[in-house]
Amino acid sequence: MSQNLSPIDTAKFVSAKRAVEFVEDGMKLGLGTGSTAAWMVRCLGERVREEGLQVSGVPTSTRTAELARQQGIKVISLDEAKWLDLTIDGADEFDPEQNLIKGGGGALLQEKIVATASDRMLVITDASKQVDCLGAFPLPIEVIPFGWQTTKMLVEELLGSMDVLGHSASLRMNGDSAFVTDEGNHILDLHLHRIGNARQLAMVLNQVPGVVENGLFIDVCDVVVIGHGDGKVETRDINAGTTEEEQIDLIESNNIFSDLD
Ligand code: 5RP
Repeated sequence: MSQNLSPIDTAKFVSAKRAVEFVEDGMKLGLGTGSTAAWMVRCLGERVREEGLQVSGVPTSTRTAELARQQGIKVISLDEAKWLDLTIDGADEFDPEQNLIKGGGGALLQEKIVATASDRMLVITDASKQVDCLGAFPLPIEVIPFGWQTTKMLVEELLGSMDVLGHSASLRMNGDSAFVTDEGNHILDLHLHRIGNARQLAMVLNQVPGVVENGLFIDVCDVVVIGHGDGKVETRDINAGTTEEEQIDLIESNNIFSDLD
C-alpha cells in the first residue's frame, strides 16, 4: 500500500511519522484536525499499540476524537487536561516566521485554543504550504450564526482599511447549507490574496462583533515538520534556530497502511 501513496500523501505521512517521535511517555497532547493530522493520529496509535506508550489526547474536532478512539488513544477534554505538553496539527499556509493560516478544515477555534494551551506546537505539513507572505489561501474566520451577514459586511468594510490585496468574504458551504463548526458557528473565508501585516489583522478581526476567532496563528508554532514526496523530512525549530533533515523509511511503516487498503 505504501508504494501506492501519492507524493502528496507520502509527504503528509512522513511529516506525521517524524512528528510523533517528539511524543514522550506520559504526555498530554493536542491532536489536530485535517488529512495530515489524521496521519499523525494513526502514527501515534501505532506507537501506543506497539510500544505501550501512555499518552492522553485532546482532540480539536469530533472527527479527530473518533479517529483517536479507533486508534486506541486515550481521549480527554481540555478541561480535564487543563494544559498540554505538545500539540501536533496541520496548517494551510506557513511563512518564514512560522506564522500560519489554519481553518481549512473548519476547526480553527478549537485548534487555536488547544495550541495556545500547549507548551509547544508542532506543525506537520508538506512543502506546498510554504509561502513568503500569507494570504493566497483564503483566511477562515469563525462567526456566530446570529447576524452573520452583518458581520460579513463589517469585516469586508474593515478589510478596506487593512494591508491586504482582496476585501471579499464568502460564507463556507456544505452542499446547499452553510457549513456548521463543532461549536455551532459558521465560517467566512476571506479572499485577501496577500496579507501585509498578519499580526495586526489577527488582532483587529477579533474586535468585530460576531467574529469568534480567526485562522491566523501568530507566534504559536514552535516547530514545523515539512514532508516531501520522496520521504525526506525537514524539521525547523524556530526557537533553537535549527533545521534538520532525514529520510523516513516507508517500508517499515507498511502495517500502518493496512487499515487503508
Ligand atoms: C483544519 C486545519 C488543517 O490543519 C488544515 O486545513 C490543513 O489540513 P490538511 O492537513 O488536510 O491539508 O486547519 O481546520
